[in-house]
Amino acid sequence: MALPSHVTILDVGPRDGLQNEKESVSTEHKAQLVSMLQDAGLKEIEVTSFVSPRWVPQMGDNAALMAAIERKPGVRYSVLVPNTKGLEPALASRPDEILVFTAASEAFTQKNINCSIAESLERFAPVIEGAHAAGLKVRAAVSCALGCPYEGEITADQVEAVVKPLRELGVDAIDIADTIGIGTPRRVQAAMERALKHFPLAEVSGHFHDTYGQALTNIYASLELGVHGFHASVSGLGGCPYAKGATGNVATEDVVFMLDGLGISTGIDLDKLVDAGAFISNVLGRPPVSRVARAVLAKRAG
Ligand code: HMG
Ligand code: MG
Repeated sequence: MALPSHVTILDVGPRDGLQNEKESVSTEHKAQLVSMLQDAGLKEIEVTSFVSPRWVPQMGDNAALMAAIERKPGVRYSVLVPNTKGLEPALASRPDEILVFTAASEAFTQKNINCSIAESLERFAPVIEGAHAAGLKVRAAVSCALGCPYEGEITADQVEAVVKPLRELGVDAIDIADTIGIGTPRRVQAAMERALKHFPLAEVSGHFHDTYGQALTNIYASLELGVHGFHASVSGLGGCPYAKGATGNVATEDVVFMLDGLGISTGIDLDKLVDAGAFISNVLGRPPVSRVARAVLAKRAG
């Protein structure tokens, strides 16, 4: 199959990236990051999560942040919602999309959202219904789709076992998430194929963390199947608080650089994206993880 000619990148940096930061990042800095991302051409941004602030304190300013962002026409803002308790404040914050999240691994689901996979699906039913009633699209993330920090290898059968009921619950789109970045290309394709059995091509996204340095290769392997939606976090921010040792998502700068080289359009301006990554890295007091960002910044400095 020819590779797709256009890819949509969802930047999850403000949420997946920052959720793991121990030091509190101010709402103003988060809003500034969102603003710089949309100025760079991002059309999809995951802003925050309406989870328990006791579990993830960094996301405790969710409503304030959603109120602070300057919304740009054509940009879609999404938020994570784990249960009905989170739905009401999430809806009040006027997102364009809701993300529910479970996993292909029982142990991880227990650690992350304190329930079994089956219970997570039960919890989602009213969340999905409520979001749809409000006219919003609902996406679901399947974490640990390639491996689990507690259970080890996860099979494509296990992925399909959660993808299928999510579709039956009325979820519109699905993210195949390699939470611990352990997937390799053929295994990623096998997992993607199971998602594609139940969801249309345009509604299947790859969410790759780069822990083992496989994320770009896994994106390429997904492109070979025609998948054209990917998540990335600017500067390579992040990790998951409930997956020890997990590093950030693949850096948005690195994905854009690869896609530019392949002649695949993204609508994203790499230079402005590097500026956004440099901004948040400066706030956090450390250099960007993105290899491309570091190369661009070194070239600018020289
Ligand atoms: P729980 O303790 O089982 O919940 O947590 P509970 O229903 O027993 O409630 C306990 C307390 O939390 C109560 O407060 C509730 O009101 C409150 P209290 O009465 O004790 O004062 N509470 C809430 N507060 C605010 N917002 C809510 C909410 N729900 C309950 N929505 C829960 C269950 C799901 C809430 C908890 O486990 C949680 O918040 N987990 C979130 C973990 C998380 O955010 N993980 C990271 C995001 S997932 C991710 O990064 C993976 C992804 O990127 C894909 C990938 O890479 O794999 C998406
Ligand atoms: Mg993630």
